[in-house]
Amino acid sequence: MQGIEAVSEYYAGRRVLVTGYTGFKGSWLSLWLQKMGAKVLGVGLEPPSVPSMNKMLDLDSVIPGARIDVNDYAALADAVQTFKPEVVFHLAAQALVRLSYEMPLETLHTNIMGTAHVLEACRHCPSIRAVVIITSDKCYRNNEWVWGYRENDPMGGYDPYSASKGCAELITSSYIKSFFNQEEYGKTHHVALASARAGNAIGGGDWGKDRLIPDCFRSLHDRQLIHIRYPSAVRPWQHVLECLSGYLLLGARLLDEGPKFGCGWNFAPIDMGDVWSVERVVQRICDLWGTGGYEVDKGTQPHEAHMLCLDCTKANIELGWRPRYRVHQALAETVAWYKEWSERPAPEHMRQFTLKQIQNYIDCSVNLPD
Ligand SMILES: NC(=O)c1ccc[n+]([C@@H]2O[C@H](COP(=O)([O-])OP(=O)(O)OC[C@H]3O[C@@H](n4cnc5c(N)ncnc54)[C@H](O)[C@@H]3O)[C@@H](O)[C@H]2O)c1
Repeated sequence: MQGIEAVSEYYAGRRVLVTGYTGFKGSWLSLWLQKMGAKVLGVGLEPPSVPSMNKMLDLDSVIPGARIDVNDYAALADAVQTFKPEVVFHLAAQALVRLSYEMPLETLHTNIMGTAHVLEACRHCPSIRAVVIITSDKCYRNNEWVWGYRENDPMGGYDPYSASKGCAELITSSYIKSFFNQEEYGKTHHVALASARAGNAIGGGDWGKDRLIPDCFRSLHDRQLIHIRYPSAVRPWQHVLECLSGYLLLGARLLDEGPKFGCGWNFAPIDMGDVWSVERVVQRICDLWGTGGYEVDKGTQPHEAHMLCLDCTKANIELGWRPRYRVHQALAETVAWYKEWSERPAPEHMRQFTLKQIQNYIDCSVNLPD
């Protein structure tokens, strides 16, 4: 199998369940899968923000979905049994670090037990062949060092969100070993299970509270100064389509070659030149938008990792995954989306615009380091 161009054939006509389909990444992923001809069923709660990509693009009119809480095992298992998916992408989560300080129990329930419920529902559904659990770059024990974390580094988590993602990884690993292992594949089970760890995804349609990119566009739209909290924090920024292409490629590999690919995978920028500080990102967004400025919040902030990079050599060599956009292009695509929305917000138009951005990404040649 080649790169993302060749992946469509693996999803065309397949039944694919996406949890968290009303969220930022889930909206992009569901649209992309549908574009490839997959039969998508979404599972999730009401969109996590107002506004939201789900409502802005009126995705409920084009993507079948069920508002189900992953904490409700019976309802979730019933939806899975009824839909009979072949592939599952699990994205549903309380996905905000700061909110996890306000709602630790809800975050831990949803992200840990919700993941266990998804895995258990998959275990009892014979149609399933491939499961991709989406966690985070924050699943690793953070040593605040300059090197990228590798897939075999220890799990950790300072704040409740990060800890919940580390736990989701441990549970996934336990299910791989206990129920979906290589030795029993084709005998007692037919499921290949893997997890995907990606960093800060940027792209149009994110309205998450206290996230840098939505904060920028809320302020720019309202002609207010952007408030930034951790100006020197460094993150592996990547366009949302980069990590989604990794998830899709991984899912296709699991379908094609089974549990050989059943483990954890990092998806992040390969070139360290794309690991920018928060302040540099905000400055570039203001330049691209044409107006706007920022100020640094002086108040005390809850702990967040300062330095966090991933090493994705494994995905590069074994999956054949490579990023396509450099960070400046990812930012340009992101600004273009919000500008388009501010000028022509009709849902049908924004759906077409989003699909065009997906196609541009597929058509773009793979980015090689300078
Ligand atoms: N956006 C990023 O930069 C980023 C980075 C690393 C990892 N992730 C992970 O990717 C996934 C998607 O993130 P996102 O940015 O789209 O988040 P989001 O907040 O935009 O969307 C979260 C989705 O999960 C659903 N959800 C929340 N609680 C639920 C529950 N109890 N039952 C069912 N559904 C529930 C919401 O309805 C929504 O559809 C999450 O697992 C997140 O942790 C995101």
